[in-house]
Amino acid sequence: MTQTVRKAVLPVAGLGTRVLPGAKTTPKNMLNVVDRPILSYVVEEARAAGIEHFVFIVGRGQGAIEDYFDSSPEIESILEAKGRVEILADVRRDLPKPGGMSFVRQMAPLGLGHAVWCARDIIGDEPFAVMLPDMLMAAPTPCLAQAVAAHGQVGGNIIVVEPCPAGEAHKYGIVALDGQDGRLNRMTGMVEKPAPGTEPSNLFISGRYILQPEIFELLERQGKGAGGEIQLTDSMAELMKVQAFHALEYEGTTYDCGDKIGLLRANVAFALARPDLADAARAAITALL
Ligand code: G1P
Repeated sequence: MTQTVRKAVLPVAGLGTRVLPGAKTTPKNMLNVVDRPILSYVVEEARAAGIEHFVFIVGRGQGAIEDYFDSSPEIESILEAKGRVEILADVRRDLPKPGGMSFVRQMAPLGLGHAVWCARDIIGDEPFAVMLPDMLMAAPTPCLAQAVAAHGQVGGNIIVVEPCPAGEAHKYGIVALDGQDGRLNRMTGMVEKPAPGTEPSNLFISGRYILQPEIFELLERQGKGAGGEIQLTDSMAELMKVQAFHALEYEGTTYDCGDKIGLLRANVAFALARPDLADAARAAITALL
């Protein structure tokens, strides 16, 4: 029996350089896709996978995230008085159970590995998920639920991957596989931001992980890697020497909302997928084209 995955770490402290100046006063993961912040979709995905506790790794100036996941008595009482029950339900949909969210300050932007390490005391000694919220995953079975199912099957560590567009491998973490048979394959290696032409496969790490708590001891002493940052990938490669890692090529579509065009694509795709908005969205887009 594999241990249940109950907690997720969401590193949200990044500056959002590619979506400035919008991300100057609004944390980048609070930018809207249609009518909800990016984080609302990620939290929804996590809940569908059974996640009960969310650990946000935040930076300075990101209080809006904590406020969003808190009750809003003024707004809610006005909506109640006006009988706007649907909007009221929307406003309340993302609220956690009391005690179901923790916020940890990452005091300096030292890298993804360092951000995840900041969650060690709250995660404790159990397997946990890491979700990179820039990446919105649209999938019939939510992406993290696919990863949790894979974890139930093979245990150990699961890394969600997908095919990398040609010429872009140097921007990502790339995995190496021990042969490829179906969507879930044993990994033999991984490298963060490989020099062009040296990537071990065309599969990149796309932003959902299930990790064993032993990663924290390795992150604790992890030196700087690609880009001068403490890289999660480097500690995972180290852990792989003693624990199994599987790559899961998930079924679905990823939108990189940390990028202007990715955010635009997400807005268009999510509006077209909404029964209440699809017709109007299609008409508006068609008229523009
Ligand atoms: C991070 C990870 C990388 C992964 C990528 C996905 O990189 O380190 O392995 O492929 O996210 O977006 P970053 O985007 O922080 O450079």
